[in-house]
Amino acid sequence: MSGSIQLTTDPEIEPDVCISYYYLDDFVGSDDGQDQDYANEDSSYDDSFSESYRTSITSSVLNYKYGSSFPLHSSIQNGRRYNAYREGEYALPNDEEEQDRMDLLHHIYNLILNGEIHTAPLKNPQRVLDLGTGTGIWAVDFADQYQSAEVIGNDLSPIQPKWVPPNCQFEIDDFESEWSYTKPFDYIHGRELAGSIQNFPRLAQQAFTHLKPGGYFEIQSFIVEIFSDDDSLKKAPYTTQMTSLLQQASEKFGKPMANLDEWPINLKEVGFTEVTCKIVKAPATPWAKDPKQKEIGRFFQVHQVHSAPAYTNFLLSQVLGWSKTEIDILNMHFLRELKDLDVHQYGKTYIMYGRKPL
Ligand SMILES: C[S@@+](CC[C@H](N)C(=O)[O-])C[C@H]1O[C@@H](n2cnc3c(N)ncnc32)[C@H](O)[C@@H]1O
Repeated sequence: MSGSIQLTTDPEIEPDVCISYYYLDDFVGSDDGQDQDYANEDSSYDDSFSESYRTSITSSVLNYKYGSSFPLHSSIQNGRRYNAYREGEYALPNDEEEQDRMDLLHHIYNLILNGEIHTAPLKNPQRVLDLGTGTGIWAVDFADQYQSAEVIGNDLSPIQPKWVPPNCQFEIDDFESEWSYTKPFDYIHGRELAGSIQNFPRLAQQAFTHLKPGGYFEIQSFIVEIFSDDDSLKKAPYTTQMTSLLQQASEKFGKPMANLDEWPINLKEVGFTEVTCKIVKAPATPWAKDPKQKEIGRFFQVHQVHSAPAYTNFLLSQVLGWSKTEIDILNMHFLRELKDLDVHQYGKTYIMYGRKPL
């Protein structure tokens, strides 16, 4: 990584703790009795919403495809639903279970970032774009928080709510196509897009082009890899195998899930300044001693229960040729290892931004 890129890692996780009273069948962890309550341009809607580039939510887009009903996913048998628009270009489902997973991850990010929904030092952003908005949960929060901003979220799937703040709009679009926005943005954001991007330098270049001078591009994403600071991950060989297979499959699919170390370098290369990349460790299960880390681990563990089938369903079958039975067995071993709090496993999220020079 380039020497001029600031790279920090925090917070430190206690690697030596096993929560022995963990109740194996309850992933929320209510077993310990310690659950806590957690709770320059005008901003009008304008030609940037012109029909020339915005794909309306037509019946064809709403015509969801289920696993066995179209060629690319034809061998998938377990009923997971995928995007119809640009079908076959995204490896994860878009069904209710996946939407719940995305919203759960939003909560995990809120815990990690103490409720902050951006880390770039924004000042009065007026035009904001959320790439691959998913359920739109981040865009809605941002629109609520910055009520004078016009927030646009795009996605391949029309899975966003209809009732949203008046300053928030969603559109169906492919962010890897040529952008046709006619007015520049103050802030462009993309979260959890590892595995969604074929060409990160090109995406970064488009973001650079479509930002105002002084505007920020921020990307936040977990790398698809599991770590431990001791050697306890050795006790979770299927977990390691799964992440390694997903890395291999996503590479082969053309949208890598583990190339995040390159992204800050790419940001610099396209001209962003003040490039900052912070890598935050998040316990994947509630093994840590620190109460906040333990809380993150509780939610992360539930998330992992849903992420394993979502990630393996298409990539291992269609890209690596595994049978459904083989995938189910791998997922079963992964879930068993996920319950073992002697495995001090954690994920890493990369939180980075760059600024277009003034
Ligand atoms: C893992 S989800 C993250 C959703 C959201 N950013 C969040 O953090 O809650 C990735 C999203 O990116 C969308 N996506 C993937 N490739 C895309 C593309 N080329 N253009 C637009 N959206 C895309 C997917 O449909 C999915 O909703």
